[in-house]
Amino acid sequence: MGPSWLKDAVFYEIYPQSFQDSNDDGIGDLQGIIRRLDYVAELGCNALWINPCFDSPFMDAGYDVRDYKLVAPRYGTNDDLVQLFAEAHARGIHVLLDLVPGHTSDQHPWFKESAKADPNEYSARYIWTDEALWGMEGRPYIAGMTERSGAYMLNFFASQPALNYGWLDPYKHWMSATDSPEARATIEAMKDVMRFWLDQGCDGFRVDMADSLVKGDDECKSGTCAIWREIRAMMDSDYPDAALVSEWSNPDLALCSAGFHMDFYLDHQRNGYNTLLRDYETEGGDHSYFLCDAGGSIRRFLDDYLPKYERSRDRGYISFITCNHDTPRPARTLSVAELKLAYALILTMPGVPFIYYGDEIGMRYLDLRTKEGGYQRTGSRSPMQWSRDKNAGFSGAPAEQLYLPQDASADAPCVSEQLADADSLLSEVRRLVALRHAHEDLQADAPFEVVNDNERTAPFVYRRGGLLLAVNPSSAKKTFEDSALVGRELVYRIGNPSVVGGRLVMSGQSFAVLSTQA
Ligand code: GLC
Ligand code: CA
Repeated sequence: MGPSWLKDAVFYEIYPQSFQDSNDDGIGDLQGIIRRLDYVAELGCNALWINPCFDSPFMDAGYDVRDYKLVAPRYGTNDDLVQLFAEAHARGIHVLLDLVPGHTSDQHPWFKESAKADPNEYSARYIWTDEALWGMEGRPYIAGMTERSGAYMLNFFASQPALNYGWLDPYKHWMSATDSPEARATIEAMKDVMRFWLDQGCDGFRVDMADSLVKGDDECKSGTCAIWREIRAMMDSDYPDAALVSEWSNPDLALCSAGFHMDFYLDHQRNGYNTLLRDYETEGGDHSYFLCDAGGSIRRFLDDYLPKYERSRDRGYISFITCNHDTPRPARTLSVAELKLAYALILTMPGVPFIYYGDEIGMRYLDLRTKEGGYQRTGSRSPMQWSRDKNAGFSGAPAEQLYLPQDASADAPCVSEQLADADSLLSEVRRLVALRHAHEDLQADAPFEVVNDNERTAPFVYRRGGLLLAVNPSSAKKTFEDSALVGRELVYRIGNPSVVGGRLVMSGQSFAVLSTQA
């Protein structure tokens, strides 16, 4: 299953440009993150995922890498990053960087070489046709912009050419095989990037678009999975304590076949995770389970999640997220009371959970003009709100110089106020994370089992190891009677649940954790 520290890991995702500015230029940076590590530790998070912090023209907020081995000057220096690893480790915090293996920026030196008419070492580092007037077999491409006569394939935006890992079954002479020297060279180059940071103290990677390597891949993604198995073997032998989490949201492939340690459960329309918090993109209204009295059902989540969990539980971890930098913040539609219950479930599920910076205080999804290729994602990327000081304590720069505008409302949530309020969302999240650390039964490996999903009059009840948990997101009181409840006591509560004998009464909008049976 990988490194043992994952068993009790709770991750915190930091968008570096928006977390803490240390030199008042309006952009968050690595020294700013170092300054806030105590905050992360006190939240109870013992691992970080930092979004790309490498040199980039920032056409996609850094997912367009120009130099994999250089920290972007706006965030600091390579030495700052090495210092961040050390300072984090001193606090028991592991640090994952963001690896973007499928594409680079079109400003990357590899691509600039590749685009030259004269053949060179990098000519086949990207996927090119051999004639600018031919298209790319129905795939997105650019032609007519380079000295080289050829169309090159895109992996995402126009500035992100696809690296060449070959094609599963090449059928044009310009397609490389997956075992061709050029495809092998790309794999070795990416391993070299990984080693570069792992050797300096990085604890692993969040892998961007992990399913996107081999083109023309089959349904099982056998070409792409073979590459990840090879990389996993390198990690098992040379970096056994390092971890990989995939942006894939397909545990059957990512965990069971590719060998990732963790796979994100992402906000894909109508999947189980999305029905919990973000049902609003489907037709027929928002029936999110945690939206109070919205007619949601836990079954929509369970029907999707349970089979995936059962098939992958011995192979790796499904990672629940509160949100990420691509996803509308949950506070877009959920109230603080609703968020508390949603986070209670997320933080008591098996696998390895991720909290997106600011979600712990209920930062809002803002209506912002696009920045660095963010488009509608920009609204989830605004600077962290630490206090009622200037720029909410994020930066000493003039407000108009900030990376993005902040929530200007008078009641914008902030850390300092919520720390002083035992009833705040932040205090609840801190207690929930502490609860998880205190009970092995709530951590990554302990089994999950549904005890009651008949929701008409009863709450949703689930078992983690020896503990029983119940959640009632509706405003109506719900009760559940069962001999399994006898002899148990409440060890955690949100709202007003009570347990007497074999009867559990869950007040409207409540959550309960019941001790193991005496
Ligand atoms: C991933 C990232 C996203 C980025 C895209 C292209 O989905 O999370 O932010 O734009 O890949 O790299
Ligand atoms: Ca700065």
